[in-house]
Amino acid sequence: MSEVFEPNREFSRQARIKNMCEYKELTHQVNDDYEGYWDKLAKEKIDWFEPYDKVLDESDAPFYKWFINGKLNVTHQCIGRHLKNRKNKAAIIWEGEDGSRRIITYLLLYYRVNRFANLLKNRFGIKKGDRVVLYMPMIPEAAFAMLACAKIGAIHSVVFGGFSAEALRDRIIDADAKLVITADGAYRRGTPYLLKPIVDTALESGCECCENVLVVKRNFEDIDMIEGRDHIYNDLIKNESQHCDPEPMDSEDPLFLLYTSGSTGKPKGVQHSSAGYILWAQYTMENVFDVKENDTFWCTADVGWITGHTYIVYGPLAMGATTIMYEGVPLYPDAGRWWNMIEELRVNQFYTAPTAIRLLHKVGADQPGKYDLSSLKVLGTVGEPINPDAWMWYYNEIGGGKCSIVDTWWQTETGGHMISPLPGATPIKPGSATFPLPGIKAEIIDEEGNPTPVGEKGLLCITKPWPSMIRTIWGDPQRFVKSYFGDCKKDGKPVYFSGDGAMYDEDGYITITGRTDDVINVSGHRLGTAEIENVVAHNDNVAEVAIVGKPDDIKGESLFAYVVTKTDIEADLLKKEINQLIVKDIGPIAKIDALLLVPGLPKTRSGKIMRRLLRTIAKSEDITQDISTLEDPSIIIKIEKLFKGE
Ligand code: WT7
Repeated sequence: MSEVFEPNREFSRQARIKNMCEYKELTHQVNDDYEGYWDKLAKEKIDWFEPYDKVLDESDAPFYKWFINGKLNVTHQCIGRHLKNRKNKAAIIWEGEDGSRRIITYLLLYYRVNRFANLLKNRFGIKKGDRVVLYMPMIPEAAFAMLACAKIGAIHSVVFGGFSAEALRDRIIDADAKLVITADGAYRRGTPYLLKPIVDTALESGCECCENVLVVKRNFEDIDMIEGRDHIYNDLIKNESQHCDPEPMDSEDPLFLLYTSGSTGKPKGVQHSSAGYILWAQYTMENVFDVKENDTFWCTADVGWITGHTYIVYGPLAMGATTIMYEGVPLYPDAGRWWNMIEELRVNQFYTAPTAIRLLHKVGADQPGKYDLSSLKVLGTVGEPINPDAWMWYYNEIGGGKCSIVDTWWQTETGGHMISPLPGATPIKPGSATFPLPGIKAEIIDEEGNPTPVGEKGLLCITKPWPSMIRTIWGDPQRFVKSYFGDCKKDGKPVYFSGDGAMYDEDGYITITGRTDDVINVSGHRLGTAEIENVVAHNDNVAEVAIVGKPDDIKGESLFAYVVTKTDIEADLLKKEINQLIVKDIGPIAKIDALLLVPGLPKTRSGKIMRRLLRTIAKSEDITQDISTLEDPSIIIKIEKLFKGE
């Protein structure tokens, strides 16, 4: 049985949710009156332009709608309404990798976003409902651009700056985006890199929808500009007025799309709403991080991921907090960089990924001791399971044994936290995300909705709709229904299945056991095996390929490829070629770590690749599964031998 850590008493006393009795009281309220709970929250938290007339509409399930006919604008929630009391408060503290800082107050943010919104409207003719792709480094202008879209009702789709030109192109086309906003480049590991040329390559083929490119100058490198298509933000922004009325948006109007990988086919454009999303972003900031008026909050994610959307931009700003945005990598100039920033900026809540914790533990275990980290109150992790070793280091060395760790389980599709400790209430156990947040009905069940016995793996489902849930997959509502509501039922009704496995322990604590589908989590980045395999298959030497996750000390999982070749190419050379292809078509995050040449892949008689077996081998585990259903059971013995180098 794992050790239990009680919340710090002093912290609990001032926390919003102070103990498990209060937690239970809230969950009872939710159970007694589900809609009433959300109604109260939405009325209390959101500054509506016009009230809604119904909380939840289930008539077109699973296309659930929330806060029907309400009108709001997310930028009013995040900026406008704070001007009265927080005009000169720092909204964003940005730190460049070179140590330079920019502090943007709520008033300055308001003006910046207004100018940017006017630029989008007046210069580029962007209207409500138009899609705008952002391909940006970690600079304040990325946040300004997101908020400028929100101000005028345009739908932003941020594409992570590590994705390749091809991946960017596919996303521009899928969203039918009119405009791309990018930067000349930025800094990483002390050296400048360029982004704009990648946009140029992306637009070379098949992006007719995209009429203009807006370039923010960050590092002032020489870049090519195409007359008429490309425009420099720094020049144009000055001409725009700093006043702009927010577009009244319906609760259900889309706020943004964010592409994520699924187990099959191309990436999915996850569509989020305006009201439900912002409500949940704010609610979780308040209760999971327990952020207070004078706190400084830091989430180390990139704005290109959902964590960056909800916990760098929308969540902190919605509650009027101060959010930190850091441009660079954690190891520059050394592995003490983040701890140094925590000391200098007196950070109160710190939120990062287990992979970063493992890395900093490994390469800089002595670093935290050099800094004063006493300002910290809450530590968070997200993106993948955290191993008890990394958890203990984080708890003791970073948190000084006095900060709760909130191990937050959620997904791009859920918009915000779903299962997480509450720092002032929940006794925590290393490696467990503990309990669903009040309002969230998360259950571990089988396909038919039967609860899974304690200690056994089951399917992690959310059995009631929640406000910040994915609304649809952009342009593919059928795929939305099939991907999320096709696998599990409760009381005969389809329920949301996360794709994750999980289990309860004897105290009802939830531990996430990882994906049950063909999605791999590398350094907290979600990758679809099918997508990578499609790319690899383009190499002329490759006859067949199957990619699985292999446990990795730092990255959590790494990519392991089993390849059947048509030629007698050597493994090392093939791996190099394959990785070049992957970098070109997806991006460096999807590079394979290892490759094994095999005579064939294990298949069922109907031709389906038995990935489970390949995963077992990659984990260096013994095969205990029944292999008699294989078309050729000898294949798996051969692969096992090759893997062991026999
Ligand atoms: C997948 C979602 C949520 C923002 C970042 C990733 C895994 C997420 C945890 C956690 C164990 C976790 C799940 C999930 N995951 N948080 N605390 N413990 N696993 O968002 O790219 O949509 O990935 O990340 O497998 O399904 P994402």
